[in-house]
Amino acid sequence: MAASSTALAKTDMDTTVEIEDVAVRFRTKKKDVAALHDVSLSVASGEFVAIVGPSGCGKSTLLKLVSGLLKPSSGRVRLLGEDVRGPRRDIGYVFQRAALLEWRSARRNILLQAEMRKMPAAQARERTDELIAMTGLTGFEDAYPHELSGGMQQRVALCRALLHKPPVLLMDEPFGALDALTREQMNIELRRIWRETSTTVLLVTHSIPEAVYLADRVVVMSPRPGTVDELIAVDLPVDRDYGKTMAAPEFARATGRIRDLLGAATSAD
Ligand SMILES: Nc1ncnc2c1ncn2[C@@H]1O[C@H](COP(=O)(O)OP(=O)(O)OP(=O)(O)O)[C@@H](O)[C@H]1O
Ligand SMILES: [Mg+2]
Repeated sequence: MAASSTALAKTDMDTTVEIEDVAVRFRTKKKDVAALHDVSLSVASGEFVAIVGPSGCGKSTLLKLVSGLLKPSSGRVRLLGEDVRGPRRDIGYVFQRAALLEWRSARRNILLQAEMRKMPAAQARERTDELIAMTGLTGFEDAYPHELSGGMQQRVALCRALLHKPPVLLMDEPFGALDALTREQMNIELRRIWRETSTTVLLVTHSIPEAVYLADRVVVMSPRPGTVDELIAVDLPVDRDYGKTMAAPEFARATGRIRDLLGAATSAD
């Protein structure tokens, strides 16, 4: 683990996610798969952490552990100071595909979260309006998913994930299906929204520039069975103009280091 991993070490008080010596093994009829081993990671409250690593190294598995959708084979996962024992309702989850209901308008797709949680209707409407404005969806509230672009559909999914103001937002390759320009725009918006909401974010991505632009720290994972290869602290200003960030020496350093690590991981395969 790199020395930089300690640069952002926080006290236990404001640790939102705590993963300690976790291993995950999947046992199927055909074979046993060791997905993760020896994974430890602490994420501070309000921190933005990106996770990169080769395909199949256990990134999605890691998010499932934090959300309680999956139990570790060994080790411990804590969220907001409590052991994760089952699916947690106090998180938001955004997947690669927006997973919207085709027969519901944008607004009613967002409101699905409120219905599942039995939120008071007036409060849910008010929060939906706020999120629609925040994500630039104004004017498209009543459009159906097929009438929205891919980027807009992901914005709707993001609104739905943020409706209940979750302290933790888990994102699994949320922009993987978007074209490069829309993806850039979504990166800029996500960074702004994260700053406005002060949510703790864990984002899985295959894009190294996306990870470095968005995150405070980048977790670089080894090939399966995945473990934390290195934690890269991104020393860029909180205010990140997209163009200036891309040209910053620190951006080149961090992306270069991650590329080296992932390249080494691939060639060792
Ligand atoms: N429910 C499951 N049953 C059996 N094996 C599983 C299950 N879920 C994941 N795996 C295996 O665990 C390993 C890690 O899977 P995971 O989906 O976490 O990888 P990933 O890093 O998200 O990959 P990608 O970048 O391709 O999305 C893979 O080898 C996968 O086949
Ligand atoms: Mg995955």
